[in-house]
Amino acid sequence: MTLSPVLDRIDADLSAATDRLIDLLRIKSISTDPAYKDACQDAADWLVADLATLEIEAKTYPTPGHPMVMGKVEGPENAPHILFYGHYDVQPVDPLELWDNDPFDAKVEDTPKGKVIRGRGTSDDKGQLMTFIEACRAWKSVHGTLPCSITFFFEGEEESGSPSLVPFMEEHKDALKADLAFICDTGLFDSRVPAIMTMLRGLCGEELTITGPDKDLHSGMYGGAAINPARVLTKILGNLFDDFGKIQIPDFYEGAPVLSNEVKAQWENLNFDHTTFLGDVGLTTPAGESDRTALEMIWSRPTAEINGMWSGYTGAGFKTVLPSEASAKVSFRLVGDQDPHAIRKNFRAWVEAQLPADCTVTYKEHGASQASQMSTDHPAFEATRKALGEEWDVDAAYTGCGGSIPIAGHFKDIIGMDVLLTGWGKDDDQIHSPNEKYDMESFHKGIRSWARILDALSSLNA
Ligand code: BES
Ligand code: ZN
Repeated sequence: MTLSPVLDRIDADLSAATDRLIDLLRIKSISTDPAYKDACQDAADWLVADLATLEIEAKTYPTPGHPMVMGKVEGPENAPHILFYGHYDVQPVDPLELWDNDPFDAKVEDTPKGKVIRGRGTSDDKGQLMTFIEACRAWKSVHGTLPCSITFFFEGEEESGSPSLVPFMEEHKDALKADLAFICDTGLFDSRVPAIMTMLRGLCGEELTITGPDKDLHSGMYGGAAINPARVLTKILGNLFDDFGKIQIPDFYEGAPVLSNEVKAQWENLNFDHTTFLGDVGLTTPAGESDRTALEMIWSRPTAEINGMWSGYTGAGFKTVLPSEASAKVSFRLVGDQDPHAIRKNFRAWVEAQLPADCTVTYKEHGASQASQMSTDHPAFEATRKALGEEWDVDAAYTGCGGSIPIAGHFKDIIGMDVLLTGWGKDDDQIHSPNEKYDMESFHKGIRSWARILDALSSLNA
């Protein structure tokens, strides 16, 4: 089967492909918020219906959370069988007032850097997921068939810690087994250089609420005598780091590996420029461990971040309240063999050891996943790198990734399947943030990249 008419087909169909993506983007599939449960089902149904237009039989599978979508199509007998994974859920849109347009009514916009599609999920991850489906559509319409056997697997809980994933994967091990899994949920190295990411950080999410007085109090009447839980919370969280950016929770760094000289050298060759990276978001100075480079900070070192904090009165005007409670959401990015459960346990013990008289603390867990390290031995890695080089006119880089995609580790642990991570997002896509966008170039070249990758894979023997 030849590639070039497939690429031509992709170019000719770009506008219709964009319309299909915009249709999917209209569905408000915010997985973390129960108010959007039906929308998550709608997005899953939409994908099943879209695959049906390619004569691919897929189904939604209910879970205690949002449904999974799975379907398989057979390709030529001697070609490899791959699994493709993407997620159809998106992050909440707040603060809504910072969006220039309705986040769920995506539009193509001209910008000084070229055309972009703007809306929630354009880059993370509906736009990326659709690059693969569109490449399959073009193959199918040109050749009547696909060049490899493909299992499609879409999740609707990735953005909320994938709580239903492990039991689902255990139950459907056989159906999910393929020669290799491809995940399209990451970005380019810089806006021109494609990347295959070989490391992902893990994540441990924790919410804590410190309670002092049994009700809100007048701060004139009680202030001074009554303990203020906001003061306790900020003191504890303020102790998370020392002056050199080292996290102070006991045994926190256990399992964080020393970076090999080989990887260090590979990363040095990337000539990562932290001044531009931080400059693009209005910053100047790397703020992590003082003895690490910025690239190490985001790819190979663990972190602690306060993701949200609330207490007392935050509405318009002013209220002299002494709050009864103070809460925070805290997350830890993990590397190497750091154990998210041990981190949670040690964090809680460390918080409790700092609680003053009359204060209590309660917790809520928000997901735990280990870091993963990909093996690049499978011949598909080199085949993919070559295919990417042809599309982007520059060799693809093997890089790390600061984000977390819980399923990546589970493909290996549960199914015994290696994972190849590649994608077309850019650093300025504003994922998880207002005005998220996906460059039309990412969408178009992403579809073409998948067509080339499928072509390259089809000549590897299964
Ligand atoms: N697509 C991202 C992962 C990512 C982030 C890749 C940055 C490349 C660069 C993914 O959808 C995501 O945001 N994952 C969450 C997972 C979490 C909620 C368990 C993350 O990393 O915060
Ligand atoms: Zn994502």
